[in-house]
Amino acid sequence: MSKKIAITGTSRGLGAALARRLEFLDHAVFGGARTPTGDLKETVGGHYHRLDVTDSGSQHDWWDAVETEFQELPDIVVANAALINANAPLWEVPEEEFRTVIEANLVGVFLTFQQFLVRWHRSEERKPAVLIALSSGWGRSTSPDVAPYCTTKWGIEGMVKSLAQELPSPLAVVALNPGIVNTEMLQKCFGAGADHYGDPDEWAVRAAPEILSYRRQSNGMSTSVA
Ligand SMILES: NC(=O)c1ccc[n+]([C@@H]2O[C@H](COP(=O)([O-])OP(=O)(O)OC[C@H]3O[C@@H](n4cnc5c(N)ncnc54)[C@H](OP(=O)(O)O)[C@@H]3O)[C@@H](O)[C@H]2O)c1
Repeated sequence: MSKKIAITGTSRGLGAALARRLEFLDHAVFGGARTPTGDLKETVGGHYHRLDVTDSGSQHDWWDAVETEFQELPDIVVANAALINANAPLWEVPEEEFRTVIEANLVGVFLTFQQFLVRWHRSEERKPAVLIALSSGWGRSTSPDVAPYCTTKWGIEGMVKSLAQELPSPLAVVALNPGIVNTEMLQKCFGAGADHYGDPDEWAVRAAPEILSYRRQSNGMSTSVA
């Protein structure tokens, strides 16, 4: 059955590939990121509406547009938008950069889920829905030089586990580790080593069925794309 799916961070990388794949599979997709439509470098699946996940006004406008397009709330929300710090030991990370990573990766997911949940509680239908937060291998393990990023992805795992205990049935929230995929983010931290990993479109073929498989029984799970 065709699903209505909202995805943040669809201007490139995993978000763009997932949007294209889900649209190919006949699902209705609504995405967005900060890049203006005219500056997009790749085809983006579904609808695209400017969004800065860190800005509550932008989130509000984007969620209004999602509801207008779908005529209801989505069945699946994928909080995918995120940033990584430039490789450096923690004591050399500029304060501003640390704050920027926290804002995008944690506050951004909080605002995305809060917009959905406030609207869901207001709705008469209170339909089943699944919230998915992109975690990482670095949300379950650590490496040097990426402490700000690890901080946020371990935070995502905590946010998901706690939120899962609050969510009423039939809602569910899941933390999804996508695996390692050759995107701009990976190139930033792995350099040329990123070339050894698969591309986002190949990843999306495996990720789409995973994302479509979650149910209320999945609530609180930490999962991975195989
Ligand atoms: N690639 C991997 O191997 C890997 C591994 C583990 C986890 N992940 C996770 O997977 C997700 C996608 O990563 P990726 O590799 O596809 O990264 P990417 O290629 O750098 O893409 C990141 C996306 O997030 C958007 N974004 C960043 N800040 C935003 C903001 N403030 N508001 C709205 N959109 C924003 C970017 O768009 P704009 O710049 O246009 O805003 C872009 O569309 C992230 O959560 C990442 O942590 C990736």
